[in-house]
Amino acid sequence: QAAQPFTVRMPVPRVATPVRRTADTDVYTLALRPAQVEILPGTTTAALTYGGTFVGPTIKARTGRKVQVTYVNALDKPANVHLHGGHVPPESDGYPMDLIAVGASRTFDYPNRQAGSTLWYHDHTHHMEAEHVYRGMHGFYLVEGPQERRLGLPRGRHDVPIMLRDAHFDATGGLILDVEHPEARSTLLANGRPLPYFPVDAAGYRLRLLNSSIHRIFRLDLGGVEMVQIASDGGLLPEPVPRTTLTLAPAERAEIVVDFGRHAIGSKLVLSDAKGPVMRFDVTRRVPDTSRVPSTLRTLPPLPASPTTRRMKLGVAPSKTAYAINDLTWDADRVDARITEGTSEIWEIYNADTVDSEFGGIDHTFHLHLVQFRVLDRDGGPPLPGESGFKDTVLVRPGERMRIQATFTGWPGRYVYHCHMQEHNVAGMMAQLEIVR
Ligand code: C2O
Ligand code: CU
Repeated sequence: QAAQPFTVRMPVPRVATPVRRTADTDVYTLALRPAQVEILPGTTTAALTYGGTFVGPTIKARTGRKVQVTYVNALDKPANVHLHGGHVPPESDGYPMDLIAVGASRTFDYPNRQAGSTLWYHDHTHHMEAEHVYRGMHGFYLVEGPQERRLGLPRGRHDVPIMLRDAHFDATGGLILDVEHPEARSTLLANGRPLPYFPVDAAGYRLRLLNSSIHRIFRLDLGGVEMVQIASDGGLLPEPVPRTTLTLAPAERAEIVVDFGRHAIGSKLVLSDAKGPVMRFDVTRRVPDTSRVPSTLRTLPPLPASPTTRRMKLGVAPSKTAYAINDLTWDADRVDARITEGTSEIWEIYNADTVDSEFGGIDHTFHLHLVQFRVLDRDGGPPLPGESGFKDTVLVRPGERMRIQATFTGWPGRYVYHCHMQEHNVAGMMAQLEIVR
C-alpha cells in the first residue's frame, strides 16, 4: 500500500553494543539473517538483515581505536560485508569473491586509522550485491575523529544518521527488485520507514545523510531552508558549505547542519526530492543549545606530486549486454591496476555513455575501495560544492570527465573499484587494483 506521507515516525537505528572491550579494541558480533520487518505500517516485509533490523545497528567507532566484528552467516546463502569508505586490510574488506559460507562466521578487523567520517557497511556478494543490499543488508558505521568534539557541532540526540533509499513493494508488502515490474509501487524510505516525520528540538542538528539506493539519485531540498554541509564521504570539509539543494548519488554521504532553532515551535520542514517529499522535520520544543558550526572544520593535507595518471572509461560494454570499465567487464583473475603501496595517483574518469550514445545518457558513479580521494576537477572546472574534502564515491554524469587523486597507503592485496549503481557493477562495471610492496 502506498503510504500516506508523514504518518510514521522515523526511527534512529539502534547503536550496537560491544560484546567485549579490550584495551584497544571494541569487539562485536553481528548476525547476517533473514527477518520479518515492519516497513510499511501494519505490514511485515521479508528482509535480509544485519542483526534483524532493516537498517542494521549503527557501529560507533573512534579514530585510533580498533573494532573487530565477528559476522555469523545465518542466511541460507553465502554473503559478506564491506565497510564502505573503510581503510581496512584486504581480508576484512568483503572482496566480492570472499564470502562467508552458510552457518560459518568470520572475524573482520577495522583499524579505524582514518578520519572521523560517516561510513556504512553493506553486502558485497558477487552478482548478488544489488539484491542483498536492496533487501536490507545495510547499516551505518560512524567514526568519530580525535578533535571532533572540540568543534562544538551538534551532538548526542542532535546527531542523527538518516539512510535514504527507495523501495518497490507488491500488494502484500513484499519487496520487488525489478522496478519495471507491473505491480511495483515505489516508496522512499528514511531509516527504513516510508515518508516519515521526525520530531526535532528547536536546535542545531547534525544530519548524516546516506543514499543507500541501488540506483536512485536524490536531489534534496528543505524548501529553501539552509542546509550547511560540513562533511562528505571521507569526513569533515575544510569549511562549511551553505546550500539549499543537495545531490546525493548511491553510496554518497553528506553531513549537514540544520538550525531548527530558527523556526517556531510547530513548524514543519519537508525534505523533498525532485519527485516529491522524502520526510518531514517537526519542530516540537525549545531547548538550550550551545552547538555551533565553526568557520574552519579541518585542515587537509597537501596533495602529493603524482607522476601517474590512469584513465577509467565507464560505459556500456562492447558486447552491448553488460557494463564495463575501459571496455572490460569484471574478471576476478585479472588485475587492472597494480599500484606500489604509498604512491599517489591521478585517475581520470570519463563517462562514455553520453546523451548522443546508442543507449542515450546513462549516469554512473565511481567508487574506490581502500582509500579516500580528492576531486581535482570536473570537465576542467572546479569540483562541485561539497566536493572540497575527501570522497570515496562520485557521480559522473553522461559525457563528463573528471580527475581524482588518491594516495594508496595500506596493505598489499586486491581491492575492487566500481560503479555504485549496483545493477551496473553486478553487470560487469567493476575492476580491481592490487597493492604491491
Ligand atoms: Cu559500497 Cu564496493 O562498495
Ligand atoms: Cu554505472
